[in-house]
Amino acid sequence: MRVVMVGTGYVGLVSGACFADFGHEVICVDKDPKKIKTLKAGGIPIYEPGLAELVSKNMASGRLSFTTELAGAMKGAAAVFIAVGTPSRRGDGYADLSYVYAASEEIAQHIEDFTLIITKSTVPVGTGDEVEKIIAKYCAANDFEVVSNPEFLREGAAINDFKRPDRVVVGTDSPKAESVMRALYRPLYLNETPIVFTSRRTSELIKYAANSYLATKITFINEMADLCEAVGANVQEVAKGIGLDKRIGGKFLHAGPGYGGSCFPKDTLALSRTAEEANVALSIVSSVVEANEARKRRMANKIIEALGNGADTDLVDKNVTILGLAFKPNTDDMRDAPSLTIIPRLQDKGMKITAYDPAAMSEAAKLLSGVSFAKGLYEAIEGADALIIITEWDEFRALDMSRVKETMNAPFLIDLRNIYQPAQMRALGFDYTSIGRPEPKVNKA
Ligand code: UDX
Repeated sequence: MRVVMVGTGYVGLVSGACFADFGHEVICVDKDPKKIKTLKAGGIPIYEPGLAELVSKNMASGRLSFTTELAGAMKGAAAVFIAVGTPSRRGDGYADLSYVYAASEEIAQHIEDFTLIITKSTVPVGTGDEVEKIIAKYCAANDFEVVSNPEFLREGAAINDFKRPDRVVVGTDSPKAESVMRALYRPLYLNETPIVFTSRRTSELIKYAANSYLATKITFINEMADLCEAVGANVQEVAKGIGLDKRIGGKFLHAGPGYGGSCFPKDTLALSRTAEEANVALSIVSSVVEANEARKRRMANKIIEALGNGADTDLVDKNVTILGLAFKPNTDDMRDAPSLTIIPRLQDKGMKITAYDPAAMSEAAKLLSGVSFAKGLYEAIEGADALIIITEWDEFRALDMSRVKETMNAPFLIDLRNIYQPAQMRALGFDYTSIGRPEPKVNKA
């Protein structure tokens, strides 16, 4: 099947490459000529493990191509995906749909035979109706259908998530559209992937509900971590103890510095706004948004308290090394990363920041000032008065801790991802702080 992917951002590029790998003929379209030039030359503008290989393999086979010309791409296409950005609108948190609507308007002008228009971008409930209205200005009703097909791709694991998803969600009431969608995803039938067919509005809401639920789960365990610290309990064991209950499940129960990234912050905010507009109280989601923002700020205070002995003057000119800047491992994405809230607060107290991240340093350099970026891991640690782990990259998980301690000036270790064991770190002589795992209280009775 000939498929057009409008937008070669993260979602469009991964989806386009994966559909091509399924055997479809995919043409990715983007307005940005620089991006298309890079892609045509075999360059990948984003960091995603396995994507470069997948793109070049499918380009070589002739199933994947890139262009800035939508008109030519749409000739003979059965399905056109809209995969453009829907950022949070500055000021009010609503999803900015201007790119989606502009793409719809342009697509509409090139429809010849029956074409399926599929929104992959995360769009608020009712957006499909608007897209339909825009396209109907240019085409007869029986020449097109608008379908919702949200993505559930995790950065760093996107190819696997696309090819082996837990489910595919498709929002349409039309049997004709359903049969095209089934043909598109046919390769997944072998794995017996559930395909949930539902109404377009329900499908649009499923995406927001999924991300908001996951954000809630993380925020829940983060607050439990605070309680653990106050009452002398261990949050990892609480997570295990509740996660073994199949109704709860153990995933997304890792306490940390707060969620970040391109989806959870934006989607929780957008869902809250949708609910407000519909006069429905989504108090849990609104609380999650607030709690997560507050958490990122509180993480800076946690570091300040751990290092300052209560006196701000102790912090001035302290050399602090940060390991991990991206919002999570295996990505160079800095969007809403906790490091962006934490680092400036430490700098405000006069601390000198050295940072190392395996992939995100050039992105981080655009957003942080006064940080010195180290070339290597151990180089970053040299002479440090404190070491702070913000992102749990694999290469930080098995550091030679004796070497780390020797390289540092003072043995302060603050592990915001709980990748080390408190007892072991204390035995090695570190002054170790982590999340929700306080030193055991001695029972004097
Ligand atoms: C997420 C969703 O998982 C995906 O389905 C959706 O389409 C896009 O948003 P992504 O943003 O790539 O994907 O990252 P994810 O792995 O879900 O992590 C999001 C954030 O939550 C990260 O900041 C991560 O560090 C944090 N997190 C995740 C925790 O703090 N604890 C956890 O247990 C899990």
